[in-house]
Formats: sequence, C-alpha cells, structure tokens
Amino acid sequence: MTPLHRNRMKRGALRRKARDISVVLVVLVCATVGIWTWDTSPTSAFLPPETRFLKLETEEEVKRIPTALNTESKKSYSSATPFVNKEETNEDSTDNKDTEEYEEKQVEGVNVSKTHQGMTSIIEEKRLEQVEHEVLVSEPNKTPTSEETKLKQVNHEVTASEDERTKTTHIEETHSDPERNEQFVAKKDDVSTSTARIPIQACNYAKGKWVVDNHRPLYSGSHCKQWLASMWACRLMQRTDFAFERLRWQPKDCSMEEFEGSKFLRRMQNKTLAFVGDSLGRQQFQSMMCMITGGKERLDVLDVGPEFGFVTPEGGGRPNGWAYRFPETNTTVLYHWSSTLCDIQPLNISDPLTEHAMHLDRPPAFLRQYLHKIDVLVMNTGHHWNRGKLNGNRWVMHLNGVPNTNKKLAALGNAKNFTIHSTVSWVSSQLPHHQGLKAFYRSLSPRHFVGGEWNTGGSCNNTTPMSIGKEVLQEESSDYSAGHAVKGTGVKLLDITALSHIRDEGHISRFSLTASKGVQDCLHWCLPGVPDTWNEILFAMM
Ligand SMILES: *[C@@H]1O[C@H](CO)[C@@H](O)[C@H](O)[C@H]1NC(C)=O
Ligand SMILES: *[C@@H]1O[C@H](CO)[C@@H](O)[C@H](O)[C@H]1NC(C)=O
Ligand SMILES: *[C@@H]1O[C@H](CO)[C@@H](O)[C@H](O)[C@H]1NC(C)=O
Ligand SMILES: *[C@@H]1O[C@H](CO)[C@@H](O)[C@H](O)[C@H]1NC(C)=O
Ligand SMILES: *[C@@H]1O[C@H](CO)[C@@H](O)[C@H](O)[C@H]1NC(C)=O
Ligand SMILES: *[C@@H]1O[C@H](CO)[C@@H](O)[C@H](O)[C@H]1NC(C)=O
Repeated sequence: MTPLHRNRMKRGALRRKARDISVVLVVLVCATVGIWTWDTSPTSAFLPPETRFLKLETEEEVKRIPTALNTESKKSYSSATPFVNKEETNEDSTDNKDTEEYEEKQVEGVNVSKTHQGMTSIIEEKRLEQVEHEVLVSEPNKTPTSEETKLKQVNHEVTASEDERTKTTHIEETHSDPERNEQFVAKKDDVSTSTARIPIQACNYAKGKWVVDNHRPLYSGSHCKQWLASMWACRLMQRTDFAFERLRWQPKDCSMEEFEGSKFLRRMQNKTLAFVGDSLGRQQFQSMMCMITGGKERLDVLDVGPEFGFVTPEGGGRPNGWAYRFPETNTTVLYHWSSTLCDIQPLNISDPLTEHAMHLDRPPAFLRQYLHKIDVLVMNTGHHWNRGKLNGNRWVMHLNGVPNTNKKLAALGNAKNFTIHSTVSWVSSQLPHHQGLKAFYRSLSPRHFVGGEWNTGGSCNNTTPMSIGKEVLQEESSDYSAGHAVKGTGVKLLDITALSHIRDEGHISRFSLTASKGVQDCLHWCLPGVPDTWNEILFAMM
C-alpha cells in the first residue's frame, strides 16, 4: 500500500465520519421541528395540499387529463360497451393511398390486432386510440385482414362527393316543386308502393328556431360513458365553451312533445328501434341511448347483438352493429352499419382483397333479413358517396346484378340519389307486410368545412350558435334528394338538414381527442348536441 493510498483512505474515513455526523444532525433538527409543530398543526400539514392527485371527479379535471386516464376509463367500460373499445373508428374518415401503402398498412394492422389481444400497455392503448380516430376504408365485418387495414389507415375524415358539397353550400336554396307540399300524400300513379293515403303531417318539425333552455342537455357528455364514444364526447376534450349544449329546437307554430326516457320505453314496449346508416346514424344511435338512460350507467341493459347477427369478427375488428335491450319494457335499440344503404357483396369470398359488388338497386341485406323484427326504422346515407371511399373499399357499382355500364348513373351524385330512391321505395313496398312498422329516412347531416377540406386545412372554428342563421322557415327540405325520395311513399322524412345547418358551432372541430394538428372534424357532432334534437323530433313523429 503506497502512502498515497493510505492518505486517500484516511481522507475517505474522515469524510464518512463527517457525513454520519451531518445525518445525525439533520435527524435531530427534523425531530425537534416535528415535535414542536405537532401540537400546533394537524398531520395534514405534512401531506401535499388537498390530495388533488386522488380526486379527478370534476369534468374540468377529467378533461385536463390526457389520453392515459381516458384510456383507462375506456378500458373499464369496453367489455360492456363495444362502441368505446378499439374498434371505435372514425369511419367517415378516409383517404385512399396508392396500393402499395395500402398493403403495407394492412400488414402492420395485423400486428395491431395481435397486440391488443395480449397485454396492452398504456402506450399500445394510446396507439390504438390513435387508430381509433383514424380511418375506415372499407365496410366492417370483412375478413380480419382487410378489417385491420381500416384501423391502420392514418388518415382522417371524409370527402363528400362533389354534388354533396354543392348541396350543402346551397342549403338555404328553396326548390319550387309544387308537389313537395304533398310529401306524405300517396302518389296516385305510383303502383310500386302499395301504400294507402297517408295523412299530411300536422306539424313540420323542420321549421323553427333554436332557443336556450336550461333543461338541456338531456344527459352529461362526461358521464354517458357506457353508450357514448369518447371520440364524440366533447366534454372529454379541450373544448371549454358549452353554450351549444343548452339549445333546444323549437318548431314553429306547434309544440313538440318533450322527450322522456321512460315515456319512450313505455311507448316502445316489446318493440325495436333500428338505426341503419353511416357514422352519423351511429351518432344518432349513441345519442338515443344516452337520452333514454339520461346518461346513467345501466348494468341491466342486455347486449342482444347476436340476435341481429352482430358479432365481433374473428381476429378482432368491429362488429357491423350493436343492439341493446331494456328489460323492463322489452325495448330494443340497435344500430347497423350500412354507409351507402345498399347491398354490398364480396365478389370472391375466399379472397381477402376481393372487390365488392355494390348493388345500387338492392337494399342492405340486413334490412331484407331483419325488417320483420323492426318497429321503427331510421335510415340515412350521404357522406360515403365519394370516389375515394369507393375505390378504397374496392366497391364496384352493380345494377341488375351486373357491373353498371350506365355512365350517367356512374356519377356519384346520381348513384347516391338512385340508391336512396331505390331503398326508400323498397322499404315502402314492405310496409303492408309489416304491421305497425314506421319507417323514416333521415335527411343529410350538413358538414361545415371552411377554407378547405378535412385534409386541406378546412376548419369550423365558430363557437357562437346561430351565426349562420336564426331560424328555418322554408317548407321544403334542404336535402332535395331525400325529400324527393320519400314523396309518395309510406316512408317519412326526418328532415334535419336545415336546422343542423345553422349549428356549425356544434361539430367536434379541432377538439378531438387524437386528431393530428390542423385536422378538424366539421362533419361529426359533439354529443350531447345536435343529433339529440334529431331524436327529439323522431320521438315526436313516432
Ligand atoms: C409483425 O411484426 C413483426 C415484428 O414484430 C414483423 O416481423 C412482421 O413482419 C409483422 N407483420 C406480421 C403480419 O406479422
Ligand atoms: C319482447 O318483444 C318481442 C317482440 O318484439 C316478443 O316477441 C317477445 O315475446 C317479448 N318478450 C317478452 C319477455 O315480453
Ligand atoms: C309485451 O309482450 C308480453 C309477452 O309477449 C305481453 O305479455 C305483453 O302484453 C306485451 N305488452 C305490450 C304492450 O304489447
Ligand atoms: C378467389 O380468390 C382466391 C384466393 O385469392 C383465388 O385462389 C381464386 O382463384 C379466386 N376465384 C376466382 C373465381 O377468381
Ligand atoms: C333521383 O332519382 C329519382 C329516381 O330515380 C329521379 O326521379 C330523380 O330525377 C333523381 N334526381 C336527381 C336530382 O337526379
Ligand atoms: C381556425 O383555426 C385554426 C387554428 O386553430 C386556423 O389555422 C384556421 O385558419 C382557422 N380558420 C378560420 C377560417 O379562421
């Protein structure tokens, strides 16, 4: 051992001794202070102020906690509520990439699914949540492989077809068609619809204005977790203005029966209400579930999806619908995903990348199969009629069972109009065979992108209600196609286009849970919100 070493050891020992002494000193001081303060202050003085980390109950706080907590709460509900689990996807979102990228994403997607089936870490959950807000390129309930493609497409939102856009912008335009006032009068020369004369609506609920009502909203957007997808619950987002939740639709010159969950259930005893359509139809469905329950958790409500063929596809993915039954009145409320309201069939079942026949002249298979079990039917379509979605889904228009060769019909606006007419007319023709069936076609839900599209910086920043207009006075629907399609049929028009058009502040806008920067959702609505009104009108018309 060299002297240098010995010296070092000595210094080390000294340092240790000094440290020991200081530790003893610190302990002594602390103990003294502790004993001294014991009498004068309670123990809580030593705890962090107001244990705020343990309480996260107010909406304000829940809202501020980002994805991790929301993910937790989502997880805890996911077994009871399929719509808040990972299959939750912004299905109106799409952008179609070239084939190569499409297939690459598909491969990735398979792994997403596998991950989810095993242990899921927070990071994975977050990723899935991201996926949740992304795209659906094709219809659900296909093979897992193509199903997962949808989940992986990292694009957002919708592009409406050309004609749709035009229609929305010209929404206040009135159409002077003398026939239109006789909307619910059977057409004399129409033999395809064997409906008797239908009484003229006493009240046109589409006319009226929005008024502030402190009895709104009908449920809490932060509490209706069992039925409301978090991606549509603006209370869980950064949004801070909620004046829009307090608006009630006041029809002109007539009163509208107040919605009450218990009244609804009693009226619907032993009955089934079915929403069939795209994601806006799904919003209306979730809104209805929240309205019936008042946003309260209902563990007694039964999941009866399998009775309507709604099962989670093998390998995960989203079922093509949900059905719930309220046992006290035996009332069923369901939603079936049918974005274009026509029949879609794979051309080669054994090929996961098969093209699909999109039968413009055939109603969705679901309706043909289950119409006899439905008492109130609400259909809609609209925003999926664009080239991007059709190509991405590999849908090929068919007519009379063969690929369509009619160039005029091939134009998307015409194809959509044709299909709406065709499906509405078919449902109407079925009414005489289904005692008590009430069928509604819900008109187009307007979109409000300003200064671009969903993928080109379009936005809907306005937060002041009724900036666009104060009331709706027009007699005719702003959705000309829908109004025309129901005319002379037994199907009623649930006309919500114009009244929703003046509520541009009610969209998700930039507040979504997971949207990428600069991407806004000016298509879907915050819930509670505008779709609640659609249901109030539906209830009044039922
Ligand atoms: C899944 O991930 C693994 C690596 O974790 C990768 O080797 C594979 O190519 C991915 N795709 C599929 C379809 O398994
Ligand atoms: C529930 O309603 C259906 C008709 O929708 C009926 O067939 C069934 O018997 C009812 N069940 C009960 C338990 O009342
Ligand atoms: C509902 O169905 C049950 C069982 O079929 C029946 O006893 C009851 O009377 C029905 N109620 C109504 C209002 O139809
Ligand atoms: C259907 O797809 C499978 C798998 O890709 C393929 O082997 C088969 O030849 C296809 N059948 C037809 C009729 O194209
Ligand atoms: C929509 O389709 C119906 C029935 O095919 C047709 O009578 C009507 O003219 C069409 N409307 C437009 C705007 O193309
Ligand atoms: C809306 O707000 C975003 C930023 O949040 C901005 O980039 C965009 O230009 C705004 N749009 C309009 C029309 O003012």
